[in-house]
Amino acid sequence: MIVCSTRPGRVGLAVGEWFHAQALQHKGFEVTLVDLAAVNLPMYDEPRHPSLQKYEHEHAKRWSASVASADAFVFVTPEYNYGPPPSLINALNYVYKEWNYKPAGFVSYGGVSGGLRAVQVEKLILTTLKVVPLVEAVVVPMVAQLMDAGAFRGSDLHVQAASVMLNELVRWADALKPLRT
Ligand SMILES: Cc1cc2nc3c(=O)[nH]c(=O)nc-3n(C[C@H](O)[C@H](O)[C@H](O)COP(=O)(O)O)c2cc1C
Repeated sequence: MIVCSTRPGRVGLAVGEWFHAQALQHKGFEVTLVDLAAVNLPMYDEPRHPSLQKYEHEHAKRWSASVASADAFVFVTPEYNYGPPPSLINALNYVYKEWNYKPAGFVSYGGVSGGLRAVQVEKLILTTLKVVPLVEAVVVPMVAQLMDAGAFRGSDLHVQAASVMLNELVRWADALKPLRT
């Protein structure tokens, strides 16, 4: 699972920590929380197309290994100006084959839209990376109202949505496995 927002003061990490707890309880996956703020990728700076997997920089090699190690993804994403955060687009561009034939779910949050417009754009880019984006999702409108002393408190509906999404993610991760070998 990838926490996509990186700015100081973000709520994304708190939402990510909440989802991490949901995913651990679900037990369908070994879960790793990857924080793009900690990964700290510079603006894309590789000289060759990522599909060649001939990376120049250590940060690209580390990111390649991290993405390659996953069977499935969950993007914890805000919406910036009706679109994805640039940190996510940058991280997507860095590698190619490492994303291929894996499913992805979304935990999106924002104002009244719950980040859904960002997710629609993310789905478009992800299909180019041969990622299968899921329909089932956790959508959090008015995220600020669910913040409590720095922690995100998801409602029962969010807990249920996380479980439904993770069930579906397990099915797709299994179904796509033959294409990854
Ligand atoms: C640059 C910027 C653009 C934003 N654009 C939107 C938007 O299009 N839709 C929305 O619902 N919220 C928007 N917001 C408000 C965010 O939903 C809110 O700040 C949220 O906390 C952002 O996630 P983060 O704290 O993890 O960065 C925007 C916030 C920022 C900083």
